[in-house]
Amino acid sequence: MANDLLKGKKGIIFGALDEKSIAWKVAERVYEQGGKLILTNAPIALRMGKINELGEKVNAEIISADATSTEDLEALINQSTEKFGGKIDFILHSIGMSPNVRKKKSYTDINYDYYLKTLDISAISLHKVLQTAFNLDAISEGGSVVTLSYIAAQKTFPGYGDMAEAKAMLESIVRSFGYQYAIKNKVRVNSISQSPTMTTAGSGVTDFDKFYAFADKLAPLGNASTESCADLCIALFSDLTKMVTMQNIYNDGGFSTTGMSEKLFEMFK
Ligand SMILES: NC(=O)c1ccc[n+]([C@@H]2O[C@H](COP(=O)([O-])OP(=O)(O)OC[C@H]3O[C@@H](n4cnc5c(N)ncnc54)[C@H](O)[C@@H]3O)[C@@H](O)[C@H]2O)c1
Repeated sequence: MANDLLKGKKGIIFGALDEKSIAWKVAERVYEQGGKLILTNAPIALRMGKINELGEKVNAEIISADATSTEDLEALINQSTEKFGGKIDFILHSIGMSPNVRKKKSYTDINYDYYLKTLDISAISLHKVLQTAFNLDAISEGGSVVTLSYIAAQKTFPGYGDMAEAKAMLESIVRSFGYQYAIKNKVRVNSISQSPTMTTAGSGVTDFDKFYAFADKLAPLGNASTESCADLCIALFSDLTKMVTMQNIYNDGGFSTTGMSEKLFEMFK
């Protein structure tokens, strides 16, 4: 599928850890569609992940940056515009981590230092990326920023813990910063609310396999794959969606608007 939808466009992809990562698939699709990219992840992920393999495959440089550090982000964005020889056209923010969820802390026994880390890594980092780019005037007119969310921002899912608050905050930043950036430079900011997906971050949620199976049975189209999420990212980075901004777009096979399905109902007969 090579349509050159991103020909001439240059962007930064945050969050490719291994081949299961949503960001990994997005990077592959960007490359297929003629886009140029720089890959970035936290220093520890660069040491432990397989990002070099991806870098070779999609002909991308890799620049280390902790997305909670404004100094790291400033260096990343400055180096990127220098290497590209111009402004950035698209950014994927595909970052999420909750120390409370990782350490299996229940929602009623939360560690508040971890809570702040969850919000900083999984939500405020989007603000930091946007603010850094905004102040450096690093994104071209009509550029596009996409982040990844989950429906726990709207509905309660036990086991998702404090990531629910992080996603609610993330979607709010999409609207608030999206407004400011539209006015400044017609830059678009959107989130994709993705189905449960078998990745490192996803599997950190307790009983994730059951969670995944439930969503797959409720959604009339079934769970949305990583590939379909990457396709939606390409559409949002492209010039085909120039008037789409400040939206939370569900890539979930219809899960969010389905109350009950025959497949699930069968299980109670
Ligand atoms: N997997 C799912 O079921 C699912 C569903 C909906 C939304 N999402 C969201 O998709 C996004 C990507 O997650 P994924 O499922 O591909 O898992 P993943 O574990 O492959 O990706 C998460 C990434 O966040 C990076 N990260 C963590 N802390 C960071 C920091 N301080 N600075 C920079 N990067 C940091 C990790 O290194 C990793 O690459 C997350 O926002 C996640 O919440 C995932």
